[in-house]
Amino acid sequence: KKVVLAYSGGLDTSAIVPWLKENYDCEVVAFVADVGQGEEELVGVEEKALASGASECHIVDLKEEMVSDYIYPTLKTGAIYEGTYLLGTSMARPIIAKAQVEIARKVGADALAHGCTGKGNDQVRFESCFSALAPDLKVIAPWREWDLSSRESLLDYLAERDIPCAASATKIYSRDANAWHISHEGGELEDPWNQPSDQVWTWTTAPEQAPDKPEFVAVSVEKGQIVAVNGERYSPYKCLIELNKLAAPHGVGRVDILENRLVGMKSRGCYETPGGTVMMAALQAIDELVLDKASRKWKEALSSEFAHLVYDGRWFTPLKDSVLAGAEALSEVATGEVILKMYKGQVAAVQKQSVNSLYSEDFATFGEDDVYDQSHAEGFIRLFSLSSRIAALNAKAK
Ligand code: ARG
Ligand code: SIN
Repeated sequence: KKVVLAYSGGLDTSAIVPWLKENYDCEVVAFVADVGQGEEELVGVEEKALASGASECHIVDLKEEMVSDYIYPTLKTGAIYEGTYLLGTSMARPIIAKAQVEIARKVGADALAHGCTGKGNDQVRFESCFSALAPDLKVIAPWREWDLSSRESLLDYLAERDIPCAASATKIYSRDANAWHISHEGGELEDPWNQPSDQVWTWTTAPEQAPDKPEFVAVSVEKGQIVAVNGERYSPYKCLIELNKLAAPHGVGRVDILENRLVGMKSRGCYETPGGTVMMAALQAIDELVLDKASRKWKEALSSEFAHLVYDGRWFTPLKDSVLAGAEALSEVATGEVILKMYKGQVAAVQKQSVNSLYSEDFATFGEDDVYDQSHAEGFIRLFSLSSRIAALNAKAK
């Protein structure tokens, strides 16, 4: 029997390798997704996996594909979960699950395993994607089965088996990083009355310590996709990397929220999404120029629907295809240039233009105009409010 494990090199998945072998009498193939989590997590990861007892380790570079096929489509919909969370972990899960299934097919595995706890969203996302892509493969979630509930017990478990592990007993936060964001949960954050300590944040400069001078960045948008930064055309992944580099020193993209998990509980999370926050602001600025009132209202509905479906792990569904198709139709006109100002934790779109702009200074001016006849408004308002007039007349007649 063969199991492919989504392996990170951290303490949990290091213990899962021997645990699977002992409890399922199987061979364990480690699968590592490179989603831009950074070199620190990737160097030596193969050696670690083999030292834990994996028979093979496959590291798959998913960075470009994740940004172009998962993050950019999500951006086109404007999805933001519960008004604040830019979905960094949620968007990465489907591509990791897909790549894991591909490895399972390649090595002829019978089962898939992951290191998510039984309390979170990630288990639902991974397993929903597995269901859609590989309904025949068994899923093993050790966290829902074993009784190793603390870091100490995991370290003891490894020590008893002479498996080397660099992890320490005191790791304060649960973090998840990819090219788009890093999340921080646990530790003092579990009490919403505690402010996040300085140790929480790892990517961005504290706004108080950010430069006293603002910095401006130019972003070019074509059909709802960011294609260039400061006039240089890059791949989606490179655009993100460039914007991360520019925005992080200004403290842009920090949020500290309480969110509703899919399994019913609320959880507290701090997120850093520097480049992504700039991207979202640029795309919103273009929408302001090009979408009429009814289209924007529809886009708000699409955004909310998409945010929930991504958060809930419903990527490989007709629902996703349908909502995305709606957003893509609206994105046809989303082309233009935005200049954004980054300063002390904030980003603002201060200049915007589009060939498809519906904004007309001729019509909107508070000065003299010769295109708009103000007397037309009277009839418009009488009809627009006609139902109220009829209701009020009825009430008076009673
Ligand atoms: N709460 C966020 C989400 O559900 C972040 C989850 C972080 N995951 C993790 N394995 N540390 O998308
Ligand atoms: C986990 O519980 O494995 C991480 C947090 C989450 O999935 O929401």
